[in-house]
Amino acid sequence: MKVLITGGAGFIGSHFVEFFLREYPESTVVNLDGLTYAAHPDTVSRLGHLGGSRYHFYKMDIGDPQVAQVLKSHQIDAVINFAAETHVDRSILDPQAFVRTNILGTQNLLQVARKAGNLRFVHVSTDEVYGSLEPQDPTFTEQTSLSPNSPYAASKAGADLLALASHRTYQQDILITRCTNNYGPYQFPEKLLPLIIANALEDKSIPVYGDGKQVRDWIYVEDHCRGIDAVLRKGKSGEVYNISSSAEVLNLEMIKKTLGLLKKPESLITFVGDRPAHDRRYGLNPEKIKKELGWKPKYSLEQGLQLTVEWYQQNRSWWEKVRDKEYFKYYQANYQPKGSKTGEVMS
Ligand code: NAD
Ligand code: DAU
Repeated sequence: MKVLITGGAGFIGSHFVEFFLREYPESTVVNLDGLTYAAHPDTVSRLGHLGGSRYHFYKMDIGDPQVAQVLKSHQIDAVINFAAETHVDRSILDPQAFVRTNILGTQNLLQVARKAGNLRFVHVSTDEVYGSLEPQDPTFTEQTSLSPNSPYAASKAGADLLALASHRTYQQDILITRCTNNYGPYQFPEKLLPLIIANALEDKSIPVYGDGKQVRDWIYVEDHCRGIDAVLRKGKSGEVYNISSSAEVLNLEMIKKTLGLLKKPESLITFVGDRPAHDRRYGLNPEKIKKELGWKPKYSLEQGLQLTVEWYQQNRSWWEKVRDKEYFKYYQANYQPKGSKTGEVMS
């Protein structure tokens, strides 16, 4: 199989590239990524070494019509779309970038995949499109109506609706996955878990939004990748599949667990102002993918968390590099795709 993976220089996409090359030795992977701030430069070179002649990389925006040439020249069989602006806090500061990539970019990909001969198209989406649950509510199923609260979630919901409309209108071979909060190695340290670990290792305070009693449903990134692969190979066209390890945890509890593994004091916890429209609880029902495609998670939260903490302890240079103010100057000069906005320097 020859696959085009978009956003393969980011957190989940890079794990998927690695997974695919390892799992399918006959496959070819074409990675297309615009290299925003979220793509670590070391990831690009690491995947290049891993993939050898079975791997190709294009620095390109998913909104670029030239993606059509990439599909044609590599005779691609399937597209897996990971590329997105992904951080909720950034979407509150600059929603435009989210509309541009997540909606307009996805629409361009849908169109070029259709014109290239109706290629199988897996669109990687999120549980955030369903909105927020109350403590007693049952978990979200694929039938739950969409009710996004942040500009990020709204832009992902918009892309999901365009993808489903393309299936209905043009009989395009499209599948959607919606997954919960991922964690694991190589996650950019603006997201909660790598932020906690990096701050704790540097004895810096851990900012907790609001009362810290929000609930997130956590999944180890490799389990997500295996779920996407199951959907790519066995999923029914036009269907949505939820992916979850059913590990709902309060933010404060997650932070305390992590500090415990790092042997760092809970006194680092610092309550700060809340995120506007902060979703209180996510919880996803994964029965459909389990029953229909035979997927199940391999990692418990304890196993995944242990592996993640160890990785960040052993790979300080990876995350130190992107917390360095120089990093943003570097990617501004080298990596900024046309029209995109620079991320702010992290403290
Ligand atoms: P990430 O922010 O780590 O990586 C995103 C990648 O997309 C980066 O390499 C970036 O350079 C690339 N990109 C951004 N805009 C682009 C554009 N216009 N053209 C080409 N490339 C572009 O993201 P992630 O956390 O790995 O998430 C990957 C996908 O999975 C996203 O679609 C996200 O919505 C979805 N998702 C993420 C999670 C999670 O917990 N991280 C959970 C569920 C779903
Ligand atoms: O649910 C899937 C989604 O998970 C993905 O679609 C998104 O791309 C991904 O970013 C993630 O969104 P969240 O908003 O849930 O993740 P984040 O890591 O930003 O925050 C997790 C929780 O922790 C959330 O309730 C906000 C809180 N938080 C976050 C940060 C960064 C804090 O309390 N302090 C922080 O500093």
